[in-house]
Amino acid sequence: MAFLRAEHLCKDYISESGSVSALSDISFEVNEGEIFGIIGLSGAGKSTLVRCINRLEEPTSGCVYIRDRNINELSQKELREERRRIGMIFQHFNLLMQRNVLDNVALPLEIAGMKKKAARDKARGYLGAVGIPDKALAFPSQLSGGQKQRVAIARVLASDPALLLCDEATSALDPQTTRQILALLRDINRKYGITVIIITHAMTVVQEICDRVGVLENGRLVEMNTVKELFAHPQTKAAKRLLLIQNDDDEETEKKEVLAS
Ligand SMILES: Nc1ncnc2c1ncn2[C@@H]1O[C@H](COP(=O)(O)OP(=O)(O)OP(=O)(O)O)[C@@H](O)[C@H]1O
Ligand SMILES: [Mg+2]
Repeated sequence: MAFLRAEHLCKDYISESGSVSALSDISFEVNEGEIFGIIGLSGAGKSTLVRCINRLEEPTSGCVYIRDRNINELSQKELREERRRIGMIFQHFNLLMQRNVLDNVALPLEIAGMKKKAARDKARGYLGAVGIPDKALAFPSQLSGGQKQRVAIARVLASDPALLLCDEATSALDPQTTRQILALLRDINRKYGITVIIITHAMTVVQEICDRVGVLENGRLVEMNTVKELFAHPQTKAAKRLLLIQNDDDEETEKKEVLAS
């Protein structure tokens, strides 16, 4: 059974300046325990797609099933429960600047009704799991980007999610920190059995961590394959272009490294 199934998702944004078709007839499945990538250039519809998956956005038509439950038919109360098992991390971390690290991670536990002390004890465990046990009392402004993303991941783990949505979670990080965060995501995918959907514009991210990937272009899912196959035999212009961009980036990095040495 697929963990998640999107069926004929369409999303049109209507505004005064006209209508934008952000998603057109998107269908795909994500298996339980899989790390699934969605790649596309800016404006391709990636964020719209993740927002439809947790119903922060209502699709114009089509629907999303999570474990055979049609989330577009849930009541507001049922949706709140379902969302509790869906974690999300973003490019800009979205931490509460007024709370220290420990209390950022404890927050979802407190909201779920846990006493403050118990929530903090549990939060400490998650800070250990993401490799920053020593940062409990620091404030987000005192952390590096990679450390902030670790806090965001610890906070997500505290809600015991079955699904983790990552929208450009490494886009603000340098290549080395990106690799560390991706390794952490793979760790928690295995250790906690969390299904992960990674949204990115970077093929290197897909290559590093994803099992399968879908290529989004102008709101259409134009190609979907295992990462290995996509890299070996890209079928569409969109996929070939994204692979080329990566090669250009690699060459740039190489040039810089040569110049610096
Ligand atoms: N709230 C909105 N109202 C109107 N149009 C929108 C809205 N949100 C997104 N769009 C449009 O829908 C299309 C897809 O946007 P989306 O944010 O999903 O792209 P994206 O792939 O996430 O891009 P990026 O990589 O830049 O984040 C774009 O043309 C965008 O302008
Ligand atoms: Mg986006």
